[in-house]
Amino acid sequence: MKNFIYANPTKIIFGKGMIANIASEIPVTSKVLMLYGGGSIKANGIYDQVMNALQNHEVLEFSGVEPNPHYETCLKAVEMIKKHDIDFLLAVGGGSVLDATKFIAAVAQFVGQNPWDILVKHGNNIETALPFGAVITLPATGSEMNSGGVITRASTEEKLAFSSSNTFPQFSVLDPETTYSLPRKQISNGIVDAFVHVVEQYLTTGTENNPLQDYMAESILKVLVHEAPTLMQDDHDYESRANFMWAATWALNGWIACGVEEDWSTHMIGHELTALYGLDHAQTLAIILPGLLQVMKTQKAKKISQLGKTIFNIHETNEDAQLDSTIQAIEQFFHSVGVKTYLSDYGLNAESITPIVDRFRERDWKLGERGNIMADQVNEILKLRL
Ligand code: NZQ
Ligand code: ZN
Repeated sequence: MKNFIYANPTKIIFGKGMIANIASEIPVTSKVLMLYGGGSIKANGIYDQVMNALQNHEVLEFSGVEPNPHYETCLKAVEMIKKHDIDFLLAVGGGSVLDATKFIAAVAQFVGQNPWDILVKHGNNIETALPFGAVITLPATGSEMNSGGVITRASTEEKLAFSSSNTFPQFSVLDPETTYSLPRKQISNGIVDAFVHVVEQYLTTGTENNPLQDYMAESILKVLVHEAPTLMQDDHDYESRANFMWAATWALNGWIACGVEEDWSTHMIGHELTALYGLDHAQTLAIILPGLLQVMKTQKAKKISQLGKTIFNIHETNEDAQLDSTIQAIEQFFHSVGVKTYLSDYGLNAESITPIVDRFRERDWKLGERGNIMADQVNEILKLRL
């Protein structure tokens, strides 16, 4: 097991009707900025629940945070914060609203000249941030209980991630009933995103003897695979939504990463597909992961085989067959929740790959648990997914 330091300060407030609790989590003397997206919270009644809870607070609003939140939008919110002396932020929405809120909280107190530096330095230069809480309405990203965020600069088509110990939510409300209004596509996306988060912390080599992390990761994957058919039926099954929501949170709250190697290359390659071609985050992951596992099959053999056995009950006698069947089972799982797995499914072709590979070459990123996924491997992975 690798050495690690783990602290997670986010208070989780879980269950139906729990949005009312935010009243006692935010000091009544605060001037609150409530941030939200394109209006889903008005249609499904979450906006009213939040406003009722905060009737004794002074609340201003910032709406229009887009999916894959834009840097440019975040800077507008920071202007508003400075103009109105806001001292507490409340994100109400999916991962995009929450990621934007984290970034806005950091920029509002950033002493540097250029806020984009926060993303260039992956958040290492965030010294302090405004306090904030969240009401999460889409199980997927784990943003509700982690310190990370991903921001897109529309003008340059760049999408970069940051994290900092200063950008954990103080609290997050997880009410499974908020997910009832989700379009099926977003449920599918959430299942795939959470699944891939676990895989990127579990399916690595170099720290083989971590049974606690392995069992935990496998438990999260099992819950996702078990609940997926019910979730896809759209019948507002509370227990199923609750299990999904909690599993998505655990998939990326840092716990299963303790003491193990991580490989975030599926995410890093996927972010380029979103930045350049506008695919949803989870759509990119479903395309990349099967290709990445094929290209890194030898290195990751032991864990691919373990995943096949424990999650999909695959027990081939031939090792190569075990690995291939497992990779196929993962892809089949993505199909079963309605997410496509090829670039051509989205009208992309060999030409679409070139700018992505060029970016990896320019940045000279060395990804994967052994730092051996570079531009050439990215090219190989993407070609397999045409
Ligand atoms: O904008 P509104 O009107 O709220 O609609 C949203 C949006 O159109 C809608 N939605 C959310 N909750 C809803 C709902 N519609 C009906 N009912 C509800 N209860 O869903 C659409 C997508 O929302 P978005 O927040 O963009 O989705 P998601 O939660 O999947 O977040 C994706 C973003 O998170 C980043 C991704 O890169 C992407 O930018 N990630 C953040 C991570 C983190 N902070 O740790 C990790 C992830 O790997 C991911 O990279
Ligand atoms: Zn993700």
